[in-house]
Amino acid sequence: MSANFTLVLFGANSDLAARKLFPSMFQLSRWGQMPAKYRIIGLGRPMKSHDEFRREVRQKIVAHAPDTVRDEAELEVFSNNLFYVRHDLAAGEGLEDLRREVMRGEGQEETCQNILFYLSTPPSLAPRIVRSVEAAGLGGRGASTCGGWRKIILEKPFGHDLQSARELNRAVRKVFHEEQMYRIDHYLGKEPVQNIIVFRFSNGMFEPIWNRHYIDNVRITIAEDFGIRDRGAYYEESGLLRDIIQNHGLQLLASVAMEPPVDLSPDAVRDEKGKVFRSVRLFTPESAARDVVLGQYEGYRQEAHVAPDSRVETFASVKFFVDNWRWMGVPFHIKAGKNLAETVTEIVITFKCPPQNFFGPPGSCSYTANQIVIRIQPEETIAIRFGTKRPGESMVTDPVYMKFDYKASFSKVGLTPYHRLLIDAMSGDQMHFIRDDAVESSWTVIDSIKSSLPDIEPYPYAVHSWGPESVLQAQS
Ligand code: BG6
Repeated sequence: MSANFTLVLFGANSDLAARKLFPSMFQLSRWGQMPAKYRIIGLGRPMKSHDEFRREVRQKIVAHAPDTVRDEAELEVFSNNLFYVRHDLAAGEGLEDLRREVMRGEGQEETCQNILFYLSTPPSLAPRIVRSVEAAGLGGRGASTCGGWRKIILEKPFGHDLQSARELNRAVRKVFHEEQMYRIDHYLGKEPVQNIIVFRFSNGMFEPIWNRHYIDNVRITIAEDFGIRDRGAYYEESGLLRDIIQNHGLQLLASVAMEPPVDLSPDAVRDEKGKVFRSVRLFTPESAARDVVLGQYEGYRQEAHVAPDSRVETFASVKFFVDNWRWMGVPFHIKAGKNLAETVTEIVITFKCPPQNFFGPPGSCSYTANQIVIRIQPEETIAIRFGTKRPGESMVTDPVYMKFDYKASFSKVGLTPYHRLLIDAMSGDQMHFIRDDAVESSWTVIDSIKSSLPDIEPYPYAVHSWGPESVLQAQS
C-alpha cells in the first residue's frame, strides 16, 4: 500500500535523530498528528535491515525520551512505519534503493506522495545530498504533476560564513525553491521565543515604550553549565560565535527589536526580522576590540579532537547596536558560553531611570530600574521588575517582581521545539524557519567580528564561572 506522506531522513544514525527527531515523531504519531498514512525512510552508511533499524530506533526513544513511552504497543506501531536504506554519499550508492523504497507499491513512474527530506547531517554535505535527491529522481522545484509536494528541512549551521552560506543556498536552490526550504534554528520552536512577538504585539501597553526613548539596554544571555561534550571536532571548526550567536543569539535579538509585521504571514514576519539583521551595525577592528570579549574555558584544549594550542572561543560577550530609528544608541549585549555557572537563557530589557530619583542615594536607580525579564529556560517565565517601598518608616525602595509562569498558568503540556517545527514543516508554515536573506545578513555581522579580530587569543576562564569576569568588568 502506498503511503501519502514520506519523510526521508538523511543522517538517520545521527545523535540529533536519536535524541530529538525520533522521539518527536513518535509522540506526534501517538497524538495523531502525523498524516494518516506515513512512512519514514532513514538513510545512513552502515548496512542494516529494516528490522534492525526499527529495533534501534525503539531503543533510542526509550533511552532519550522514556516519559513518552506509555505503551510498548504504541512504539511497535510507530516503528512499523520505519524503513532503512543504506546510502553512501561519497560513493553515490543507495540512490536507486531510495527511489525504490519511496516508490514501493505505487506501481507507476511518478510518485504522488508528499515528501519531506530532512537533512540531519553536517552542513557541508547538503549540496551533495540535494544532488543525490535529484539523481534519485525525487527532486523537483514544486509539486509532482499529480499534486504531491516536496520540501526540505536543513539544520543549522547554514554554512560557516557568508561565502559558504551563499554557496549552500545556491546549491539547494538548484533543486528546491525557497518556498520549499525549511531552515531550522530550534530556538524558534521554543514556546517562550514564539511568545516574544505575541507579548509585544498583542498588548497595547508595551509597544509605546519599546524604543530608545525608554529602554536603556537589552541583555541576552545563553549560558550552559556544560562544555562541548563530545563535539570537539565540530567546535574547532565553529566556535561559539558561529554555533550560538550567529543563529540563536541574533534571532532572539531580532524578535525583541523587529517592527510590527503588516500581518502574521510567514514572510511578513520574516521581512521585519530581515530588516533588523540588515540594521545591525557591522564591526570594525576598533569597535570589536572595545565591544567583543571572547573566552575559552580552562581545559578546553584537553578535550578530544581539540588542538593543544586552539584559539577557538567557547564564550563570547558582544555589544551590538541596531542602527535604526527605534533603537539607535541602545546596546544589545549578547553573552553566551559553555561551562558557565548555570544553564539559563533569558532576555533582560532594562528601562531608563525616572528623571528624578527621590528614594535612594544618588546614582542608585539601577538597583530598582524597571526591567522586563523574559526567561526562556530552564523556567518559562516573564517578570516585570519595579521599585516598591520597603516596609518600615523610611521611604526607601526595593526591587520586586510580578511574574507570569507558563507552567502555573497553563496546564497543557507544551510541545518541544521539534514537535512544533515538524508540524509546521508538514503543514507548510515557514514563519519559524530562517529565510535565505536572514542567513546571509546574520553571517555578514559575524564575519565582521571574525575579520576584525583575526587570530585573537581568547581569555581563559574557570569552569562554572561567568566567563573571563575581570576582563568583562574592565570593559563594561
Ligand atoms: C545548539 C548548539 O544549536 O543549541 C549547542 O549547537 C547548544 O552547542 C544547543 O548546546 C542549545 O540548545 P538548547 O535548546 O539546549 O538550549
